[in-house]
Formats: sequence, structure tokens, C-alpha cells
Amino acid sequence: MKEHLTIVRHPLVQHKLTLMRQKETSTAVFRQLLREISQLLAYEVTRELPMTTRTIETPLQKMDAPVLAGRKLALVSILRAGNGLLDGMLELIPSARVGFVGLYRDEATLKPVQYYFKVPERLDQRMNIVVDPMLATGNSSVAAIDLIKQKGARDIRFMCLLAAPEGVERMRQAHPDVPIVTAALDERLTDKGYILPGLGDAGDRMFGTK
Ligand code: URA
Repeated sequence: MKEHLTIVRHPLVQHKLTLMRQKETSTAVFRQLLREISQLLAYEVTRELPMTTRTIETPLQKMDAPVLAGRKLALVSILRAGNGLLDGMLELIPSARVGFVGLYRDEATLKPVQYYFKVPERLDQRMNIVVDPMLATGNSSVAAIDLIKQKGARDIRFMCLLAAPEGVERMRQAHPDVPIVTAALDERLTDKGYILPGLGDAGDRMFGTK
């Protein structure tokens, strides 16, 4: 991917995103929309998966037909909101391996602290797609990508629903090699780190915890 930031402006993505932003949208509908958008974003983020050909027979004749090359994919979810993007992606790419990174913010230092980390083996041989719906300050995405790079990951992409300019800039500084795919680039962050206009707390909205 050449671009550091790709905004998926497809009408279906934009329409679904607007429904998700609306405060009256229920948890069930929010979750369903997130699943649908994750598949549309997955289409973009996997655009460069390596291909090969396989000889097959149609009912009429033999042909060399395109298939995905053997190189495997890893999806890495930043807990907990990243899980909202996982299910839809796994429907589309059922053989993908899945990793999880759990981070919380230390209130004294404001730095992300790891509380859970479990990823597939041989990340160096995979395309690694890190997922989190909200790229806000960028602190957790930068930390998660630092961790998977320490495990050998080299080919990495980041997929989110909404990005703030501050988070995009932080990622550009820390991980210029990691392309970002998002449905929208919003205006800015509040002083509490929420994206404006945003959609609120993505985890609370998808799990109904508030
Ligand atoms: N995380 C969220 O869930 N929402 C925001 O607006 C920012 C970070």
C-alpha cells in the first residue's frame, strides 16, 4: 500500500457509519453495522494479499485460476473494542489466525500498560492486520504495533472505523511503514481523548456497557 492513510469513501461505508454515529442507534444495530463495515473495510485492507494460480477444471475446461498465495494472515485485535471488527473479518477470511493485545492506561504516567498478549507464531511470515475501531491519541495502536514488531511482524496494516488527526500523526511518527485504513478522518480529540464528532465510546456502544 503506497498511501499512509486510506479513507474508504464508498457510499455503503459512509451510510452505515452515519447510522453508527447517531446516539439513538441501539447496541444490537450498532454491532450489526460494525460487522458489516468491517467486511467492507477488510476488502480494502486485504487488497494486496499475494496471489498465485491453481490449475482447476470448470465443467467446460481446465484453467489456471487465481487463488490466495499460501502466506497466512494474522488479525490482531486491540481489546476490547477491536473484537467488534473481528467477527465480520473472520467470516470473510475464515483461515486467518487471531491475536489479542490488552492494554490499559496508567493514570499516573498516562502510558499504555500491557495486561494481555497472545499472538500467533511466525508473525514475520504473515500479513498482520491490527484492528481497533477508534484511532484516537494513537497511544494504544502504537504500543500494540511495537509489541508485534518485537515478535517479528514486518508486514503490518492498521484498520479502524474512525481516526483523529492526532492519532494519524502519532502513527506516522512512530510507524511510518504501517498503512492505515479508515472509514473517516474526524476533526479532533477532546481533552479527554474522545474523537469529535466521533461516535462516543465504541466499546460501550457495541457491548452495551453504559
Ligand atoms: N475510544 C473510543 O471508544 N471513542 C473515542 O472517541 C476515542 C477513543
